[in-house]
Amino acid sequence: MDNQLFDLTGKVALVTGAAEGIGFALACGLGEAGARVVISGRSKERLQHAISKLTAEGLAASGHRFSVASAAEVRAAIPAIEKEVGPIDILVNNAGIQRRSPLEQFSEAAWREVLDTNLTGIFLVSQQVARGMIERKTGKIINVCSLMCEVARPTIAAYTAAKGGVKQLTKAMAIEWAKHNIQVNGLGPGYIRTEMNRALTEDPQFDSWIKARTPIGRWGEPADLAGTAVFLASAASNFITGQIIYVDGGILAAL
Ligand SMILES: NC(=O)c1ccc[n+]([C@@H]2O[C@H](COP(=O)([O-])OP(=O)(O)OC[C@H]3O[C@@H](n4cnc5c(N)ncnc54)[C@H](O)[C@@H]3O)[C@@H](O)[C@H]2O)c1
Repeated sequence: MDNQLFDLTGKVALVTGAAEGIGFALACGLGEAGARVVISGRSKERLQHAISKLTAEGLAASGHRFSVASAAEVRAAIPAIEKEVGPIDILVNNAGIQRRSPLEQFSEAAWREVLDTNLTGIFLVSQQVARGMIERKTGKIINVCSLMCEVARPTIAAYTAAKGGVKQLTKAMAIEWAKHNIQVNGLGPGYIRTEMNRALTEDPQFDSWIKARTPIGRWGEPADLAGTAVFLASAASNFITGQIIYVDGGILAAL
């Protein structure tokens, strides 16, 4: 096989919400494939810590503080990043939050916070980044999806609605920007051991349920997602757009 298919040397990749968890693992994977990675997040200290870990691994990495949910911050951040490191070739829309509450008690504030971050954030960042990609006639966008693009579980209605929206937004972005040689796809993690899921990983009943419900028989680790991100960021996926690849240990294939 031609290894250049997956080579990201010379590419600039922006991964949002990447100070920890899945975003950090995706940044590592893209960096190891040769990309120069820019990680974003809301805390300068956590970003700095993550950049130190990436550079200690010999990866080219820098960071930029902005919230994906703030149109003004996104508008300022993208040109600043491109001025500093060069045009963004690969965008990974990873930033996301979770809020849990029975639906009949779900607060409007929590609903809006989740929709603003998990869905509107992707619209805001992608629009800013895509304008440059359209001019340059090249780009790869990866939206981090979820099993909740397809199915639902109790107490996470806002998250489920947002991720359902991300599935459709992925298709909308894919078909509008295909003519500009921009491929837009989704990466759908199953249950991955991160801070977002701490309440679940620490619940023995849920932990046993996940292991029984997942054909591969374990929680996913953030690093399990890196290969698919490299694939979707690389020339190997040049004729794929508007798809979601689930990396879920087989959950969605099993009833
Ligand atoms: N952990 C899982 O099992 C799982 C499953 C499916 C999908 N996902 C998705 O993966 C992505 C990453 O989740 P994770 O599990 O690594 O969670 P995490 O909480 O470890 O990381 C999320 C990151 O996003 C950042 N973030 C939140 N709001 C932001 C904002 N407004 N602007 C910038 N950054 C912001 C957080 O600070 C954090 O660094 C999310 O989109 C999540 O929905 C996670």
